[in-house]
Amino acid sequence: MYKIFFSLLFKRMDPEQAHHLAFRWIRLAARVPVLRTFLAAALAPRHKELRTEALGLRMHGPFGLAAGFDKNAVGIDGMAMLGFDHVEIGTVTGEPQPGNPKQRLFRLVKDRALINRMGFNNDGSLRVAARLASRTPVFKTVVGVNIGKTKLVPEEEAVADYVKSAERLAPYADYLVVNVSSRTRPGCATSRPRRRCAPC
Ligand SMILES: Cc1cc2nc3c(=O)[nH]c(=O)nc-3n(C[C@H](O)[C@H](O)[C@H](O)COP(=O)(O)O)c2cc1C
Repeated sequence: MYKIFFSLLFKRMDPEQAHHLAFRWIRLAARVPVLRTFLAAALAPRHKELRTEALGLRMHGPFGLAAGFDKNAVGIDGMAMLGFDHVEIGTVTGEPQPGNPKQRLFRLVKDRALINRMGFNNDGSLRVAARLASRTPVFKTVVGVNIGKTKLVPEEEAVADYVKSAERLAPYADYLVVNVSSRTRPGCATSRPRRRCAPC
């Protein structure tokens, strides 16, 4: 099934568009009670043996979703429905930012891999915090929040930018990740796949 979908639809579609389309379907399915109950039971059966404890947090199992898929905390229940035992949202920056110009996501079909040059596109800490605050969770899942530096904030103000995000988002996070990657510095990230970034 996945192979058919992949070759007919996703392989031909721009990878970022494919991401948004697939994520929209997942979120829609998670809104329909019968469907989400069925999908969660079929895709994410819970086994006691898989129960995991890490960082003092108890989880149904060891599988988590890394940051980057749900950057804005719009589909946590959808991902939990698919079987992720923790969902890390973000990277969220202090201020909203559009990320790098498109195209910024590239398929390496032979390697079954992607090159990601998104540039931390996200809604910003204020909106994401509001979204998390108003969330009524359907599935009990651990939620991590990954924070990063706003591209336009100068290096000297980076700490204040992180602190702002942490203060806004930590109240809703089971754990917080401080992303110190600096590839979103102006002039550093590039949207072209073969051009190299200067070391930063
Ligand atoms: C399209 C895309 C966007 C990503 N965005 C982020 C991000 O915003 N923040 C982050 O910390 N990691 C981001 N990542 C990295 C992932 O969190 C993860 O570390 C990476 O995909 C490697 O995963 P793997 O170890 O399962 O192969 C992104 C990855 C991809 C493919």
